[in-house]
Amino acid sequence: MSTTVPLLAARDLVKAHGPTEALRGASLDLRAGEILAVTGASGSGKSTLLHCLAGIVRPDEGSVSYAGEQLHTLPEKRLSELRRTDFGVVFQFGQLIPELTALDNVALPLMLAGAARKDAQVRAQEWLERFGVLGQEALRPGEMSGGQAQRTALARALVTDPKVVFADEPTGALDSLASEQVMTALTHTAGERGTAVLLITHDAQVAAYADREVALSDGIVVPQEVAA
Ligand SMILES: Nc1ncnc2c1ncn2[C@@H]1O[C@H](COP(=O)(O)OP(=O)(O)OP(=O)(O)O)[C@@H](O)[C@H]1O
Ligand SMILES: [Mg+2]
Repeated sequence: MSTTVPLLAARDLVKAHGPTEALRGASLDLRAGEILAVTGASGSGKSTLLHCLAGIVRPDEGSVSYAGEQLHTLPEKRLSELRRTDFGVVFQFGQLIPELTALDNVALPLMLAGAARKDAQVRAQEWLERFGVLGQEALRPGEMSGGQAQRTALARALVTDPKVVFADEPTGALDSLASEQVMTALTHTAGERGTAVLLITHDAQVAAYADREVALSDGIVVPQEVAA
């Protein structure tokens, strides 16, 4: 058993959306470099948990600590800085910028971090290729298939070399062969760079790529058997 302090630790998170209690005391640790799968029924609170962990949504109660900082108490300015520098997020419903091509969607986080457009595009191109988006760099999100949009969103989440990638159903629109290709690229990249990945998935084959799996049930985290 490792005694290393987790990179990200959530304790007793409670979050309500109006009358719906999406999280009711969820606790979870993510260690540096670890790939953790989070499964659970639709509506069990997975996306809400991801949003709290990534500093996008503030929990009503409970704490989230990341590398020594208490995310639930940080000012918005510091949270958005962390989201830019340390986190990469793949949202369940894509959220690519509709006016930008695939290439510019992926280049954008680098440009926001100060890279010149040409340099950002060269790196964006490499990441699109890594995720199997070839010859579609000029498509805008409205012209992409669901799978192309998901691959583009993954490339965008990884292009800045974040410490943690939060991926909400990143293979939900992919068939099993494409899921395998994307998961191989994701786990290879994470292993190479020591990136921690929090991976939400409904798919047992996708969860099998993780080092560890937990499930959400009615807003509470339940450990699962350790993957081989
Ligand atoms: N913005 C919101 N406004 C109102 N209710 C919400 C909102 N977001 C989530 N909920 C509710 O909170 C509960 C948990 O939602 P959440 O999206 O976290 O579930 P999930 O496990 O990600 O589900 P799925 O597998 O379908 O994506 C659900 O009952 C959902 O209807
Ligand atoms: Mg969800």
